[in-house]
Amino acid sequence: GPGLSAEDTRVKVRVPAKVNLSLRLAPRDDDGYHPVSTVFQAVSLFDEVVAERRTGGLVDVFMHGGQADRVSDDTTNLAVRAALLLRAERGDPELGVHLDITKAIPVAGGMAGGSADAAASLLACSVLWDLDTTPDDLHELASRLGSDVPFALLGGTAIGHGRGEQLVPALTRGSYQWVLAVAPEGLSTPSVFAHFDAQLARGAVSPMPSAGAEPPRELLNALSGGDAESVAAHLGNDLQEAACELYPPLRRTLDIGTQAGALAAIVSGSGPTCAFLCANQADARNVEAVLLGLDQVLEVHRVSGPVPGAQLVS
Ligand code: C5P
Repeated sequence: GPGLSAEDTRVKVRVPAKVNLSLRLAPRDDDGYHPVSTVFQAVSLFDEVVAERRTGGLVDVFMHGGQADRVSDDTTNLAVRAALLLRAERGDPELGVHLDITKAIPVAGGMAGGSADAAASLLACSVLWDLDTTPDDLHELASRLGSDVPFALLGGTAIGHGRGEQLVPALTRGSYQWVLAVAPEGLSTPSVFAHFDAQLARGAVSPMPSAGAEPPRELLNALSGGDAESVAAHLGNDLQEAACELYPPLRRTLDIGTQAGALAAIVSGSGPTCAFLCANQADARNVEAVLLGLDQVLEVHRVSGPVPGAQLVS
């Protein structure tokens, strides 16, 4: 395996949150998923997963920090499922692991926090157990765990198709300053998608045209040119209306952050976290200060992107 001596019994992985700069959805397929055309960006808000070797096939998790108390710690935990899947496919049933997860990414926040932990668990366990997994192997296992798990392994800025698991890196220049406003409660991803379906059925939103299966050309050009103002002008999220209808205070959060000087505001993924793209760090600090005063905002993070995907740290 990659660079681990036999005595090592502890591996630490750092993994980022994501925002979707663009998220376009076609109507739900027979498989229950919506074909997507999306642009992901990994941002500098990280969970940390420490994997410690255990004997006798024991696999368990302890979560702390942030909103860790909102996450299950049984075999429905996505990081535990990742370890179990990896072992079932590649390893010996006697292999065990204790996962210790320090959460900073909001839970049920639309930032792929659970997916991030699953990606980190795959990487950490494959190193800890000294398995001969290639990046392609990990990507394949990741896509079986969830639509956003492969991107958490890859990081950077990437175009996503299929359910979001078919990834191609995007050409980008420079670094983008974001302010993230975390809501006091989460939104369940399936219920936001179901609400999007209901909006489609009553004609309140329009689906991605089949001819529009590529992400907006203007957005990709703005990213390759490093033009934050133009990136801001082409942000878009087909789930934003659904998230706002399910949690109406989001509309005010988006407005106020924009008035406070952000270039643009967007709901992140299925929400309810709001992401504000800012021209510079001074503007980001102003936006942060104003958002911190709102009742419907639990916490605020100033972050930048793109950052790498899941990485081993010493
Ligand atoms: O892939 P993942 O398990 O993260 O998806 C969670 C839920 O989000 C799915 O059960 C589905 O309801 C919805 N989803 C979707 N279309 C996608 C991705 C997710 O409808 N492309």
